[in-house]
Amino acid sequence: MRLGILLSGRGSNFQAIYRAVESGSLQAEIACVISNVPDAPGLTFAVSKGLQIFALDSKGVKRVDFDRRVLEILRTNKVDLVCLAGYMRLLSPEFVDAYRNRIVNIHPSLLPAFPGLDAQTQAFDYGVKIAGCTVHYVDEGLDSGKIIAQASVEVLPEDTAQTLSAKILEQEHLLYPKAIAMALATLSKSES
Ligand code: GAR
Repeated sequence: MRLGILLSGRGSNFQAIYRAVESGSLQAEIACVISNVPDAPGLTFAVSKGLQIFALDSKGVKRVDFDRRVLEILRTNKVDLVCLAGYMRLLSPEFVDAYRNRIVNIHPSLLPAFPGLDAQTQAFDYGVKIAGCTVHYVDEGLDSGKIIAQASVEVLPEDTAQTLSAKILEQEHLLYPKAIAMALATLSKSES
């Protein structure tokens, strides 16, 4: 199965996926890494590993036109599953429809709580005692698709929004490769 990674920034979740593929714990191939931010640090790692990258710039481009370009790259590279890894952009309905049940995302909260931006700070400011992260299928809504897997962390009295984010990120790196394996297993089953 071929993965297409979409990112906008640091790319630590992408690195976790890469490591899982490299170690064989995730049986898949990274077909391409696409960023909508041309100088995203995540791309540097991809280049250092000899992966195929596409550094696009979404600034000033209509969503539908940008997404068509991305779709073309995914199709050319025969991508089976699209993994959003810190891809800070909503997908057009056309994109979602083209890869229905084949797009997964990681979000740093226990959805359906705290969708949208700065989820960790939203959770911290709310005063939750349990926080965490979610991997879900992407639909037309905001962080609203079917949940694949979740991991939780305890919020301790000494935590700050920063320490909580770091604890959640650690769980994200463990959860995302496992959830991708689950999505791939579902995909294989539906195709056989
Ligand atoms: C991660 O915490 C991810 O869950 C979050 O952005 C960060 C990207 O970090 N994604 C979202 O908030 C999506 N709604 P990374 O670039 O180091 O993987």
